Amino acid sequence: MLVCVTRCDQRFWGLRVLACRFMNTFLIARHSPTPRVCSGAWTEICTYTPAMPARKAPGATRYLPDILGFPALRKAVQKCHGCDLYRNATQAVFGEGASRARVVLIGEQPGDEEDRVGHPFVGPAGKLLNRALGEAQIDPSIAYFTNVVKHFKFEERGKRRIHKKPGVAEVEACAPWLVSEVELIRPLVILCLGATAAQAVLGRDYRLTKSHGQFHPHAWAPYVSATLHPAAVLRAPDREQRHQMYRQLVGDLTGARAILEKKKSSASS
Ligand code: URA
Ligand code: SF4
Repeated sequence: MLVCVTRCDQRFWGLRVLACRFMNTFLIARHSPTPRVCSGAWTEICTYTPAMPARKAPGATRYLPDILGFPALRKAVQKCHGCDLYRNATQAVFGEGASRARVVLIGEQPGDEEDRVGHPFVGPAGKLLNRALGEAQIDPSIAYFTNVVKHFKFEERGKRRIHKKPGVAEVEACAPWLVSEVELIRPLVILCLGATAAQAVLGRDYRLTKSHGQFHPHAWAPYVSATLHPAAVLRAPDREQRHQMYRQLVGDLTGARAILEKKKSSASS
C-alpha cells in the first residue's frame, strides 16, 4: 500500500487525478480533501493550476467516468448536466484528433454547425483554422482540437441561432472534461484560441493582445500560449484587418510549429 501525498491545493476544481502509468490508465477521483490511501501502482498527481475562482454551477465532475479513456469520456459527456447548456444544445461536442497529439488547440465552444454535426471546428471558423494550420505547416494529424465548453450556447433570433459567449461559471463547470483530455494526451504544446480559452487556461488576467504567441511552461504542458480565435478573424470589420489578424494567427501557429520541430530534432539527435 502507498499513501499518496497531496500536493494540490483544494481549489482544484474538485478533481484529483490519480495516474497509473503502469496500467496506462487514469482515474479521476471525485473531490476528496484528504490524502488517500491507494494500492501500490496508483500515485496522485497534480497537473493543474486552477485559473477560475470557485462559482456555483454543479459542474461536470460527477459525470466523469471512473476510468479515464477517450471512448468512456465521449460517451459520458453526452449525459452531462453539469451546467444548463445541455438543455438547448443538440449534443455535446467533445474534442477530436490524435490521442497522443503533440499539440492541443483549444477553442471556446462548438458553433452552430458543430452542434448539429457533433464534431469540433467543422464550420467556417474551423475551415479558416485548417487553412492557417496548413500555412504554418502544422500537420493536423499531430493535433487534437477541443473547446473549453462542450455544449453550444446561443440565443434564438428568428430562425438563426446566435452564438453567446459562455460565462465563467459554465467554463468552470465544464473544465473537468478539458482537464481529462489534456491529462490523457499530455501534449508538448497547447495553443488557446481566443480570450475565453486563454483566460480559462492561463488565468483571468491574461491579455491576448499583449501576450499572444509567447509560450510559457504551464502545469498542463511545457509550452502554452494563446492566439486569436479564427472566428474573430472572420468577424474583422474590413479586409485589411482580416488580413492582418489572419497573419497574426498564422504567425502564432508558426511559433508552435517551431517548438514542435525543435523538440523533434533534439529528440532524434
Ligand atoms: N469555434 C470554437 O471555438 N470551436 C469550435 O469547435 C467551432 C467554432
Ligand atoms: Fe456539462 Fe459542459 Fe455541457 Fe455544461 S457545457 S452541460 S458542464 S458538458
